[in-house]
Amino acid sequence: MKVVEIKPDVFWVGAIDWNIRDFHGYSTYKGTTYNAFLIKDEKITLVDTVKAPFFSDLMHHIQQIIEPRLIDYLVINHVEMDHSGSFSQVVDAIKPEKIICSEMGEKALINHFKRSDLPYEVVKTGDTIKTGKKSLQFIETRMLHWPDSMFTYIPEDKLLISSDAFGQHWATSARFDDEVPFDELMNHAAKYYANILLLYSPLVQKLLAKVKELNLDIDMIAPDHGLIWRKNVSAILDAYDRWSRQEAKRKAIVVYDTMWHSTEKMAKAITDGLIDEGIETMPMSLKVFHRSDIMAELLDSKGLVVGSPTINNGLFPTIADILTYMKGLKPVGKIGFAFGSYGWSGEAPKIIFQYLSEMKVEQIIEEPIRIQYIPDHEALKKCYDLGRKLGERIKETV
Ligand code: FEO
Repeated sequence: MKVVEIKPDVFWVGAIDWNIRDFHGYSTYKGTTYNAFLIKDEKITLVDTVKAPFFSDLMHHIQQIIEPRLIDYLVINHVEMDHSGSFSQVVDAIKPEKIICSEMGEKALINHFKRSDLPYEVVKTGDTIKTGKKSLQFIETRMLHWPDSMFTYIPEDKLLISSDAFGQHWATSARFDDEVPFDELMNHAAKYYANILLLYSPLVQKLLAKVKELNLDIDMIAPDHGLIWRKNVSAILDAYDRWSRQEAKRKAIVVYDTMWHSTEKMAKAITDGLIDEGIETMPMSLKVFHRSDIMAELLDSKGLVVGSPTINNGLFPTIADILTYMKGLKPVGKIGFAFGSYGWSGEAPKIIFQYLSEMKVEQIIEEPIRIQYIPDHEALKKCYDLGRKLGERIKETV
């Protein structure tokens, strides 16, 4: 496929991974891309590489513009393997004069690839390297997504190459945000934020403040995954501000799994209560929804209710999975409760209660609601009433 000139003499030369469906535990139903950018200037610069199996795609794309051996500088904004998996092959192919990265980037590259003899040039926030007519300015973005991460900004083009930030896992034939439906794009961007960056939200807030302080003139953001933002730059910056403040709306999710449909009956009754309070909601069975889709829905939900049957004195395995994953992503400011059905011991709802406490969820009942065997009308009424109670509490806060 043809390369795309995103700015004068700046080309998208990355790769499209149409078939990936699991990205370290994140369901990528529509694949992803590994974006890399070639800057044609007096010093020819490649910003980022691609995942190892896509090395030949990258080389093929570069070859449409220049002989890869003519590349002078290689910028590594981020060392995670989806961007640096082909690092060694690329370095051997182009033999760059400089490999530009952050201090942590140099350490991570050497730790990954055992190539300490390469011409690394460490940069920090505020450093600029001229490539000729253009300049590369660097902004370290520690933990967004790894300690080594940084942005590369080209002031002459008002172009921010943003590595993982502002990305989306979406493989398409389009390269720009204005070539795809906006709502679908924002859904992909939100899911990406919820699953990749949510736990670093305080750092995202600091980064947005830093970008403001640096007074960067940006009219294009080119992330390393998905579509390039040129029409909706302010929309994605505003969304990152909202998401990193974990701003929620009158919405709740009821996450559960079930063995013999008792916990499911409880989940539906709770959902009914929420609906009757006017709360946007849905029951999310782990048999139907992937953990990463649950995180995407949780991003703007004020309410979080989790239920599990008890099995082998503990949680249903899928509930253990989602709670571990969710806790690690550090959602904040949620309100909810724990529930579940059981036969004789009934530990699962208590364990969920503990998880929710550790996640600092404001729990509207002091103990989880537990129903033995099959919930009868009275038990389901209790669940329904709790749904309504949660709805009322959400409306008091949002
Ligand atoms: Fe897309 Fe943190 O790698």
